[in-house]
Amino acid sequence: NSMAYPLQSDELVFFVNGRKVTERQADPEELLLFYLRKRRILFLSFASELFRLSGTKYGCGVGGCGACTVMISTYDPVAKQIRHHPANSCLLPICSLHGAAVTTVEGVGSTKTRIHPIQERLAKCHGSQCGFCTPGMVMSIYALLRSHLEPSMEQIISALDGNLCRCTGYRPIIDSYTSFAGEPKCCQLRGTEKCCLDQEEHMCSSSTGGQVRCFGMFFIISYLHYKLFKSTKSLSFPPQRMAQEQQRTTLIFHGKRTTWISPPGLKELLELKAKYPKASLVLGNTRLNKNVNVVHHPLILHPVRIPEMHVVSSTNNGLVIGAACRLAQLRDTLMETIPKVPEEKTKIFQALLQQLRTLAGEQIRSMASLGGHIVSRGSTWDLNPILSVGKSVLNLASEDGKRQILLNDQFLAGCEHADIKPNEVIVSVLIPYSKKDDFISAFRQAERRKNALSIVNSGMRVIFSPGTDTIVDLSILYGGIGSTTVSARKSCEKLIGRQWNDQLLSEACKLVLEEISLSTSALGGKVEYRRTLLVSFLFRFYLEVLNGLHWMYPFRYAELSEEQKSALGVLQSGVPRGLQVYQVRCDVDPGQSSQDPVGRPIMHQSGIKHATGEAVYIDDIRPVDGELSLAVVTSIKAHANIISIDASEALQVPGVVDVVTARDVPGENGNDEQAFAEDKVICVGQIICAVVAESVTQAKQGAEKVKIVYEDLEPILTIEDSIKHNSYITEERKIEKGDIEKGFKSADEIIEGELHIGGQEHFYLETNSVLVIPRMEDKEMDVYVSTQHATDVQELVASALNLQSNKIMCHMKHVGGAFGGKITKPSFFAVIAAVAANKTGRPVRFVLERNMDMLITGGRHPFFGKYKVGFMNDGRIIAADFQCYINGGCTKDESELVIEYIVLKVDNAYNIPNLRVRGHACKTNLPSNTAFRGFGFPQAGLFEETCIVAVATRTGLPHEKVRELNMYKGINLTAFKEEFDAENLWKCWEECLDKSEYYSRKATVEEFNKKSYWKKKGIAIIPMKFSVGFNATYYHQAGALVHIYIDGSVLVTHGGIELGQGIHTKMLQIASRELKIPLSYIHFCETSTTTVPNGKYTAGSVGTEINARAVQDACQILWKRLDPIRSKNPNGKWKDWISEAHKQSISLSATGYFKGYVTNMNWDTKKGHAFPYFLFGVACSEVEIDCLTGDHKNIRTDIVMDACFSINPAIDIGQIEGAFIQGVGLYTLEEIYFSPEGEQLTLGPDTYKIPAICDIPEKFHVYLLPNSRNSVAIYSSKGMGEAGLFLGSSVFFAMRDAVAAAREERGLPLDFTLNSPLTVERIRMACADDFTEMIPKDKPGTSKPWAIDIH
Ligand SMILES: Cc1cc2nc3c(=O)[nH]c(=O)nc-3n(C[C@H](O)[C@H](O)[C@H](O)COP(=O)(O)OP(=O)(O)OC[C@H]3O[C@@H](n4cnc5c(N)ncnc54)[C@H](O)[C@@H]3O)c2cc1C
Ligand code: FES
Ligand code: FES
Repeated sequence: NSMAYPLQSDELVFFVNGRKVTERQADPEELLLFYLRKRRILFLSFASELFRLSGTKYGCGVGGCGACTVMISTYDPVAKQIRHHPANSCLLPICSLHGAAVTTVEGVGSTKTRIHPIQERLAKCHGSQCGFCTPGMVMSIYALLRSHLEPSMEQIISALDGNLCRCTGYRPIIDSYTSFAGEPKCCQLRGTEKCCLDQEEHMCSSSTGGQVRCFGMFFIISYLHYKLFKSTKSLSFPPQRMAQEQQRTTLIFHGKRTTWISPPGLKELLELKAKYPKASLVLGNTRLNKNVNVVHHPLILHPVRIPEMHVVSSTNNGLVIGAACRLAQLRDTLMETIPKVPEEKTKIFQALLQQLRTLAGEQIRSMASLGGHIVSRGSTWDLNPILSVGKSVLNLASEDGKRQILLNDQFLAGCEHADIKPNEVIVSVLIPYSKKDDFISAFRQAERRKNALSIVNSGMRVIFSPGTDTIVDLSILYGGIGSTTVSARKSCEKLIGRQWNDQLLSEACKLVLEEISLSTSALGGKVEYRRTLLVSFLFRFYLEVLNGLHWMYPFRYAELSEEQKSALGVLQSGVPRGLQVYQVRCDVDPGQSSQDPVGRPIMHQSGIKHATGEAVYIDDIRPVDGELSLAVVTSIKAHANIISIDASEALQVPGVVDVVTARDVPGENGNDEQAFAEDKVICVGQIICAVVAESVTQAKQGAEKVKIVYEDLEPILTIEDSIKHNSYITEERKIEKGDIEKGFKSADEIIEGELHIGGQEHFYLETNSVLVIPRMEDKEMDVYVSTQHATDVQELVASALNLQSNKIMCHMKHVGGAFGGKITKPSFFAVIAAVAANKTGRPVRFVLERNMDMLITGGRHPFFGKYKVGFMNDGRIIAADFQCYINGGCTKDESELVIEYIVLKVDNAYNIPNLRVRGHACKTNLPSNTAFRGFGFPQAGLFEETCIVAVATRTGLPHEKVRELNMYKGINLTAFKEEFDAENLWKCWEECLDKSEYYSRKATVEEFNKKSYWKKKGIAIIPMKFSVGFNATYYHQAGALVHIYIDGSVLVTHGGIELGQGIHTKMLQIASRELKIPLSYIHFCETSTTTVPNGKYTAGSVGTEINARAVQDACQILWKRLDPIRSKNPNGKWKDWISEAHKQSISLSATGYFKGYVTNMNWDTKKGHAFPYFLFGVACSEVEIDCLTGDHKNIRTDIVMDACFSINPAIDIGQIEGAFIQGVGLYTLEEIYFSPEGEQLTLGPDTYKIPAICDIPEKFHVYLLPNSRNSVAIYSSKGMGEAGLFLGSSVFFAMRDAVAAAREERGLPLDFTLNSPLTVERIRMACADDFTEMIPKDKPGTSKPWAIDIH
């Protein structure tokens, strides 16, 4: 073609973990993550060696989760300095790395060489559970420490902004890095040169009398390591790089579809731009292009080596920043500049800095360039509105010469006359100094405080005539409203010449609302909220300026009133601090031997492997010979007949081997749910067929080419619709206690209400993954799968292939998070891969991309509840009638059990003498919802607590008093007549009231609220009765197999699966106790259906304890077998006994079994023992909300949990904290949206927000109740897996408390209902005021909304 550049590709040279990599055929479309994980990296010095660096994980592919974080080091020839920064390798084209050095987690440290202190601390401080996010966490901190040897805590927290963890709740991660901040600190052993973490028992006493687990503090060995690391700076930058830098030639890389050119200078860049004006510049490649992160332009220019585009200089007018400068660099420059320049000149800089603190995560900030940010002009990009009101100037260049244009609203709107020309590039940006009479403010509100795109942002500026408040110039720009940043230009023009007073404010609001319109069906929804933010921000700006005027001219302009002052400023997150107290010493028998690890906070068995990236998840398994990749074709219709499937074009795609449909299933195509849709689809995302190909890309390309013709059928999507159409999955479930009619008659008052609770995505960091390897003989097949339920996988695969289960071998080693989401669904993915493997005779790997995983699988059930509650004026609830509905989706899955559990558990901690509960599971055309941590209880509990709040509100009594009045006391019967003792519920309650200093803090909150009109605080204390386990005995059965080898080493296996919950760690502790040998003798290899058959799912909080019984059983059998030998040689060593036993032909292998807890709920008699035992807990949370924006901050949480005797307090506390934070996500953040056609719209971390590090309470205290025993479970322990989740509702109710305070002050009714999740939008809209009043309201049903409510 006409391209004038050479057709020959240059060699791409970069460094990976200190070694040189040369790519002769670098493809510009290749992204580093996939390159590292999949490609053979040929190191010159190890030419024959193949490397697969699978420590770097895929979590989302869109830069949102941080699992793929690596460190990039480049040489800055101007500063003659090496710069290190973190980067999301999923967005990083390899061609951008020429001459750079990449460090992956493998390069930081490994068990084969030396573990790095960062890795060691994270593992030892219990900072990893499933471990899938862990390498990314390590890399983020490593990159920080490489450039800041003693970072501040703020820097540490902000370095982790872009890393998501779904398991831990972040507290232990923060703790493990606390010691890197400045001076080392130690726990209570400070000064003794020792720390609890170095002591055998890992604990030290606290002033509170219990044992405080010292996490994340300084431990001496590591610190010495760290010092060493500081002085040697591991992995020094390859010197070759510097030589490379001198190279002044154009670099060209030709790919299959794209050519990449890196010009050495501006002149060459401009020549290329003149010749190929359509060519795209790429710097950070972070411009969000949903689901298409691969660059598809035929020509890409990479202007990274152009000095003019890297300038940072201050001139008389302001700062000149090169367009290729990264946003992190811009931030650092502004931070350096601001203190050096008179304050009045820095107002634009400060506004930019404010946005840069919350913009994306550190990885994106380190990659994204200023020029890219400006040119890509995303509607919600945060800097553009400020650059525009600040009258920034773009310095452009082309072959025709240089020119300057204003970065103004017209540029941002893309108006041709104001835009850059195709042959031009931005060389640099002038950000001007502000002046004395300037006022500039920045605003943004996002769904989550950090690492989330703004919902609405704004830049506002007013210039006054000197010394007055007469407006000379005014500009207001908003992002997040239209497809680009929009300006309220006309409104501003009208206000010029006016005085800055209340009248101006109301007129400005009116004008802006007229000028900036947002359609009811606008993308992204939240329409009324977004409209409200327009004026809320304006109000805040108005006050900020008034305040500024007062500070400048205190005699001319009055000080703001207290009320006004409370509207200023945004909620700032502080540095989170944790405290964990548990009572080991009083529980552990004083005579417990130091060898016996039970009851001690032993590190996760895989902790170090998580931190070094050595833990092998499914997609990390090396490719096997002949392996194929699989991609699925999913339904785009919620309900339709399939008329035809045409795969002919797909089969033409190079590399595509076959297309697999329901017809290829030799046996059963699923069970209650089909693996492949046959002639009908019943939800969007249902799998119709699968394409197998030599590579993932080819499989995906093939899948895109399959043509499906549908015939539409009417879908049912919402609970409301399914009630209308009588569409249910199962019969009504009902429980009755007492006589509710009588109860209502005797009640002083009756209230009725409703509650809607949204669903929740599991968002396990590892997406569903399966690798199926057919064996050469007997039709056997190995299935490596990320599941919680191996038996189900085995059964479904066998029945699909028409084989006996004895031919299917399932293997599970590490599952990267599950939370209930990997109970039923992985079996279908396994069937699909197995059918494809069976058809092609080749191994098949099927790893879902994040968006597909979220599209195909369901999540927690959305809930709708109606209540009628009768109560006495003193707050006693006499009668309640509950109707509960869940949206089950298109198949039964677990919905029947979930609705049963809702009905059985809805009473929570309250004794309602006359109660009727009816439950319905609705059948709709949505992806089938499934198990999720808590299994219905989180919905039921919130519903019950909402009734308590309603009663408290109506009676005017304090909420905690109404709770106390109605809580179970003494020995009780539940509604289904199960006996239990509420003693520990009360112990937790009293302890939590005490530990949280509830009453005094409540008074302080009330005091604060009296003084603060626009920011409110709230506090709530919530009790919990959680029933652990299942309502049928056979769900609790478990098996184990323990071998002792002749050398005395022990191999333990059991039916439970490691999902991050530390099951194997506890199992090793148990085997260690029972066999009385040190942990170091015992190994766990994998869970497999070949060693322990018929395992039930690892779920329901009991996975660990039931398998523990089986392991205990096997160990006790073995111990007994050794009796005669031991008695003969009582002083002998373990190894001696074993070799003697072997000589005497004593079997050294035993299976153990646990038949299960007796549970036998009978739905006909409504009686029976429904659950093995109860667990109690109480949480108290305090929050602050911003009534103007809905922003919220979690100030403090205290949890008291009745954990009884914890086998491993570190693991149990990890479960409590992780579940709690997941609950905070459920109740306050996570929102799933469906289109009116039933298609899920929230398909990645960009649109679906799980809690990040900014969401954890600043003070987070967990106490395990002392001196408590459970006669049911092993060693008197209790299952901690799920219960903590519901306690997240304490944050919900604290927010509600804050909203109520705002409403009370505004004279609004207090009997309002807040649906869950209580997001920024709902908080803002509930704090109704003049601003919410003034926005245009749409009549419901006037136009099609972007999304619908399915609950
Ligand atoms: C996960 C994630 C989170 C994010 N969060 C936020 C956020 O919270 N707030 C926010 O504001 N933004 C956010 N962003 C967006 C981010 O700010 C922009 O994507 C980024 O600034 C673009 O810079 P880049 O260097 O990556 O651009 P690239 O993707 O490399 O380029 C973008 C475009 O700019 C053009 N271009 C680049 N440089 C020049 C130049 N010098 N002259 C002419 N044209 C040029 C290119 O041709 C291309 O079309 C987020 C992005 C991601 C991926
Ligand atoms: S995989 Fe790269 S950020 Fe999620
Ligand atoms: S440990 Fe962080 S995602 Fe599992």
